[in-house]
Amino acid sequence: MATDVHRPVTAPAVHVAGLTRSFDGRAVLDDLHVDIRQGEFVALLGRSGCGKSTLLRILAGLDRDIEGTVLVPRRRAVAFQAPRLMPWKRVWRNVLLGLPGKPERAVAERALDEVGLGHRAAAWPKTLSGGEAQRASLARALVREPDLLLLDEPFGALDALTRINAQRLVGELWQRRGCAVLLVTHDVEEAVLLADRVLVMDGGVIALEQRIDLDRPRDITGPRFAELRAKLLERLGVSTTTEAS
Ligand SMILES: Nc1ncnc2c1ncn2[C@@H]1O[C@H](COP(=O)(O)OP(=O)(O)O)[C@@H](O)[C@H]1O
Ligand SMILES: [Mg+2]
Repeated sequence: MATDVHRPVTAPAVHVAGLTRSFDGRAVLDDLHVDIRQGEFVALLGRSGCGKSTLLRILAGLDRDIEGTVLVPRRRAVAFQAPRLMPWKRVWRNVLLGLPGKPERAVAERALDEVGLGHRAAAWPKTLSGGEAQRASLARALVREPDLLLLDEPFGALDALTRINAQRLVGELWQRRGCAVLLVTHDVEEAVLLADRVLVMDGGVIALEQRIDLDRPRDITGPRFAELRAKLLERLGVSTTTEAS
């Protein structure tokens, strides 16, 4: 996998061409093409098992057993649905985990402040709520100052209200940081709320690409929002019309 060291600044943040990944002779990604612009927020939808996490893990550099071209920024970070915090390390140490050099606690605290968790820096992971743990996981991604932030269903395990707050937080972080984001989600509304562009994956390729031409902050009760949501749900095979009984 190549990184962006020799690429001009006008290059996309992510360039994927002819990407194929097979498991046991079955191609889960099958000649897939996708580009993500620098600073662009892209949401990736698709039915369970269609290969979303497979693509994300490849972009994160966690899976190199591939065919095709994958160009990604050197600085990238990933957050998963499970926060994956080490229970024997305090929150701030978890945030710094795996960073090169010997970064100071203040570095972690700045990232924790950014996600509204500065006051929990010295806490043990098991004392955090689900939403707090997920924010700690986001802080761990942010501290890497990524040009590409990869999020794999990060809000999937949160209750509805916590989820709304976490979505708002990710939207704010993205606007402040200006990094490219790839958000894997199964929530069509979340995709339309946050993304510049929504991709639907099916049959190992990007089967639909939808630009979200809505101003921010977005009004989820507006007619265009409903139109976009309906179009995406239909592509995912979910009917939005209820028949009269
Ligand atoms: N390490 C692996 N070994 C074998 N099969 C895998 C592996 N990782 C993923 N798969 C298969 O690839 C397909 C896509 O998985 P995944 O990318 O996790 O889907 P999604 O994230 O869209 O739900 C599934 O059929 C899954 O069983
Ligand atoms: Mg997945």
